[in-house]
Amino acid sequence: MDKKEIVLSGIRATGNLHLGNYYGALSKFVKMQQDYDCLYFIADLHALTTNPDPAQLHENVKNILAEYLAAGVDPEQATIFVQSDVPEVSEMYLLLNMHVGIGELMRTTSFKDKARKQLGISTAADSDEEIEKQIIGTNSNKRVNAGLLTYPTLMAVDILIQKATKVPVGKDQEQHLELTRRFARRFNSFYGVDLFPEPENFNFGDHAVKVPGLDGSGKMGKSEGNCIYLVDDEKTIRKKVMKAVTDQGPTEPNQPVSEPVENLFTLMELTSAPEIVTHYRDAYADCSIRYGDLKKQLAEDILKVTLPIRERYQEIRADDEYLARVTRMGAEKARERAAATLAEVKQAMGIRKFY
Ligand code: ADP
Ligand code: TRP
Repeated sequence: MDKKEIVLSGIRATGNLHLGNYYGALSKFVKMQQDYDCLYFIADLHALTTNPDPAQLHENVKNILAEYLAAGVDPEQATIFVQSDVPEVSEMYLLLNMHVGIGELMRTTSFKDKARKQLGISTAADSDEEIEKQIIGTNSNKRVNAGLLTYPTLMAVDILIQKATKVPVGKDQEQHLELTRRFARRFNSFYGVDLFPEPENFNFGDHAVKVPGLDGSGKMGKSEGNCIYLVDDEKTIRKKVMKAVTDQGPTEPNQPVSEPVENLFTLMELTSAPEIVTHYRDAYADCSIRYGDLKKQLAEDILKVTLPIRERYQEIRADDEYLARVTRMGAEKARERAAATLAEVKQAMGIRKFY
C-alpha cells in the first residue's frame, strides 16, 4: 500500500468552536480523514500564550476535544491528541528557536496584533515603532511575554515534528505556514539534511474560506462577539440569526448587494441547498425579497448542521472515560512519530549521548 500524505492541524483551547472554525478548519478535518494520514490536536500550549485561568484551560481543552468528536472526527481513522501530551514538541521548540530570528517573529502580523492589545496601543499608523519602543525601551513597565513572540516557532514544530505536508486551516493562518516553510528550509540547508518537507494549507475548492460574522462586516471570530457556536441551543441560534444586520432592502432590480446582506448570502451558500440560495438571490434581484424569510430559512439550515453536533457533544463531553481513551491512544501515536523526528533533529545538531 502506498504511503498516505500526512495531514496535521490544531485549534487553540480558548473556548467553544463557532461556524468560522467549523467551515475554516473542522469540516475539512472530517472530510480529509479517509484519504490522508491525519493528526488533529488541541493546542493547549498555544493557549498559554495569553495566560488563561488555569481552571478554565482544562475545560476548554475538553470542549474542543468533544467538539472534534461530535463533528465527526473519528479516533479510529485520525490521531486525536492534546499538544501538551507530546513533550517532544516542547523539546524541539527549544531546539528550533536557535534558528529563528527575533526580528522575523516581531514582524508577524499575529504577534503585532496581540502585542498591541497587551500594551494598550491603538491601531495607529506608527504603532510598529511604538511596539518596539515599549517592548525594548528601558523605562517600559509593560510586558509582552516571550511565548507570544515564539508562537510561530511552536506552531512550526507541531507541523514539522510530524513531517506533515498538508495543514487545513483558515486564511488567517497562512503567514504562520509561510514561516514554517522558511524554518524547514533553513534547518535543512544549515545542517545539510533533508529532514523536513515544506507544508501547505489545504482547502477543498480553490481558495481558503472566510466565514463572515452576523454584525454586518468582518469575519466571524471569538473576540469579535459575532459568532454562532456549534453548541448554541436552538433558541439562541434563531435569535442571533434574526438579529443579524441587513439593510433597507433593494429598491431597483439587480441592485448591487450591500456587505451585510452579502454576508448572509455567504452563510447561506455554506449551509443551504443551492436551489435555496438561487431562490433568494433571484428574489433579491427582482426586489421581492423579505429578509425575515431569508433569515428564518438560514436559521433552519444552520440548525440542521449544528443541532446534531450539539446533541453528540453533550453526550461525549460527559464521558470522561471515553475522552481519556481517545487522548491516550492519540498521544501514543503522536509521540512515536515525534520521538523519531526529535532523534533525527538532535543527531543533525550534534547532541549526542555518552551512554
Ligand atoms: P478565532 O479567530 O475565533 O479565535 P482561532 O484563531 O482559534 O479562531 O482559529 C481556529 C481555526 O479556525 C483556524 O484554522 C482559523 O483559520 C479558523 N477560523 C477562525 N475563524 C474563521 C473564519 N471566520 N472563517 C474561516 N476560518 C476561520
Ligand atoms: N495557530 C493556530 C490557530 O490559531 C493553531 C495551531 C497551532 C495550528 N499549531 C498548529 C494549526 C499547527 C495548524 C497546525 O488557529
